[in-house]
Amino acid sequence: MEKFSNLVVETILNRSSVRSYKSDQIDGEALSVILKCGLRAPNGWNHQPWDIVYVQDKTFLDELNFAITSDSNNSVFYHAPTVVFISGNRDDEYYAADCPLAAENMVIAAASIGIGSCIIAYLSNFLNSQAGQVYKERLSIPENYEVCIAVALGHPTVPMHPHSSRDESKIRRY
Ligand SMILES: Cc1cc2nc3c(=O)[nH]c(=O)nc-3n(C[C@H](O)[C@H](O)[C@H](O)COP(=O)(O)O)c2cc1C
Repeated sequence: MEKFSNLVVETILNRSSVRSYKSDQIDGEALSVILKCGLRAPNGWNHQPWDIVYVQDKTFLDELNFAITSDSNNSVFYHAPTVVFISGNRDDEYYAADCPLAAENMVIAAASIGIGSCIIAYLSNFLNSQAGQVYKERLSIPENYEVCIAVALGHPTVPMHPHSSRDESKIRRY
């Protein structure tokens, strides 16, 4: 294993979801790198069928959270200062695969530069419902796009470490 260890492998093996963030905003250049890595994700036919919008407006995020949870203390975004919403074009064959791949690239890039992240799907049902339409419009998400996933980003309150285990028996050889 050691022979093939490098920064990418180490980052992937050590990443974990972060669910507690400091309130200070992440660096703009760091965000640009993360978003750029999202765009570089493999995607079907290179159609890039996504719409990616990042939100740093706390008032908006708090309002959306309350609309989803009816609770201002518990945040579906874990009070992260930046949330990236990734939506996919329903007319595209592979948008449902492509959007999470962009999210995955973002969380790995974030981890590699010490920024915490959490992929969040919990909000997509709400945002794609009639009640969520107003928020999609405020974010200027195109008409025929479905909100697939979001990525919360911020500085972790505690150091990141891989805390969830993986079942290696899920890998089989045929
Ligand atoms: C498709 C998808 C949806 C997820 N939705 C949520 C979510 O809504 N809320 C949340 O706290 N974590 C969410 N997660 C994060 C997972 O819970 C997390 O990746 C998993 O528990 C493994 O932990 P790790 O990321 O720390 O390795 C989601 C992850 C994926 C890939």
